[in-house]
Amino acid sequence: MPGIRQYLFRGPQAVTLLILVNICTLFLWYNDRKDLEVNIFNGIEGEAYCPHPHHHAMGPATVTHTETVAETVLSRPKAEVAGPAFCDSCGPHDLLCLQYGDHTLARSRVYEGANARFRRVIKKAMAGRPIKIGVLGGSVTNGHGLKQNKVENWTARYLKAWKALFPRSETVLINGAVPATGSGYFSMCWGEHIEEDMDLIIIELAINDQRIEENAVAYEWLLRGLLDLPKKPAILNLQTIGLAFPQISTGGDHHTPISAYYDTPVISLRNALAQHIYNNASLDEHYFSRVNPETPDWRHVNVHGHKLMSDLLLSYTQRQLCAIEREKHDPRPWIDSSEGKLPGTDILEDIPRLRLLQKYDRTSITSRVKPFCLSTRTKKHPLVPMESEGWEMWTYQGRLAKPYLRATEPGSYAKFDVQVGVMNRVRVTYLRSKTFGLGDVWCWIDGNKKGGTRLSGYWNVDNVNIAIVGVVSDKTPPGKHVLTCEVMQETNDQGKGHEFRMIAVDAS
Ligand SMILES: *[C@@H]1O[C@H](CO)[C@@H](O)[C@H](O)[C@H]1NC(C)=O
Ligand SMILES: *[C@@H]1O[C@H](CO)[C@@H](O)[C@H](O)[C@H]1NC(C)=O
Repeated sequence: MPGIRQYLFRGPQAVTLLILVNICTLFLWYNDRKDLEVNIFNGIEGEAYCPHPHHHAMGPATVTHTETVAETVLSRPKAEVAGPAFCDSCGPHDLLCLQYGDHTLARSRVYEGANARFRRVIKKAMAGRPIKIGVLGGSVTNGHGLKQNKVENWTARYLKAWKALFPRSETVLINGAVPATGSGYFSMCWGEHIEEDMDLIIIELAINDQRIEENAVAYEWLLRGLLDLPKKPAILNLQTIGLAFPQISTGGDHHTPISAYYDTPVISLRNALAQHIYNNASLDEHYFSRVNPETPDWRHVNVHGHKLMSDLLLSYTQRQLCAIEREKHDPRPWIDSSEGKLPGTDILEDIPRLRLLQKYDRTSITSRVKPFCLSTRTKKHPLVPMESEGWEMWTYQGRLAKPYLRATEPGSYAKFDVQVGVMNRVRVTYLRSKTFGLGDVWCWIDGNKKGGTRLSGYWNVDNVNIAIVGVVSDKTPPGKHVLTCEVMQETNDQGKGHEFRMIAVDAS
């Protein structure tokens, strides 16, 4: 390996070098004394990355109080590029960069992180071992924007590209998308839609969640549940763009800080595209589907959006693959010189003992949650009451992707066996809408009808008809219990509707 000074300094910058060596001697001396304070560089602007005996510093070296500035080595000579030809980033064989430009690919990478899990999965695929990819998503991933030609969906494209990247590895993809549901539902019902033995899980729920704190909480539980699966799967959050909502920002913008806390990458179609769409209004129709020939559908991107989603994800995957290749070619292990005061790489795959949305303390450990879920959208644990009157399985105009357990008459009741866990919680996922004529139910646990909860199908929100999760109880002791829901005489619906559409029941 060439000496580090050759990398960092070339040409006649002896003065800078001398100063740097002095600063570094100081640095190492202080460092050896273990009483290094950041402000030892007081009075000197800029940073000095010092060639520590055990380190291979590659960062820029600048000292701004001298005339000369050390040359910064930004890229290696081409001959040194390791891995497939596309690893020469934005070179002639990096086809995605040629097509989209480095600028757009960069904007799509909202949170990148250390990628410990994702790189482990990529290495496994490179070694020719089988990979299972699971996808949790909403209607976009369910193919709603691709009415004519669902074959062009992003999951199928990405799977094809993944297989081309790792031809020796056998890959399966399970698309567990559920239209019109979000993190609230998936936080406890993800197990109904993917298997436990996933290596990689991609989440596409950004526009399915409203931008409310509750969804951040749910998203955090979702991540914790998935990260804890047996194979310690890598999680990627692929965010689409939707323009049908009160704000351009959606629940996905509550996912991003949670994703970052758990070091799970976020890739955003919205951030790559939005500004450009605003600058040329006709582009909205280029990227979005249509409800019918006259009406654009600002919820669901069409084939052009799907292609971009898959390509942005592929570019991200290639980037991590290239990082692996670079490291193989030129390993630079990090050696802790802080005596444990700085985090090491050994913690990268761990799940923090504290949730981001709680208060700090020194000892508590967030419990593992083993969710119980009954759903109309699954074959594993279907939502079947143990006793009921007036409820039946129903789909709107034969839309098989959206089945409900439905009742329409006051007094209709349904009872479910549920298994409550450490969260002491029982919830119902149900449809809310301003225009569907939806009424109210009263739900309670065991015999405690008086202590029940009212869930309203109607809400005064325009253009949003989605699944919402209502908490019936968060004080139920762990164990088996019975949940009962009964359609009420009272209704919040303006047209006095009594219809109620239930999607799932969960307990945790
Ligand atoms: C995506 O496309 C594949 C084929 O390319 C197809 O088998 C699959 O059903 C499609 N999925 C959706 C949700 O449209
Ligand atoms: C706007 O986009 C359309 C394609 O949808 C393109 O034909 C047109 O040239 C663009 N206009 C401008 C001003 O860039």
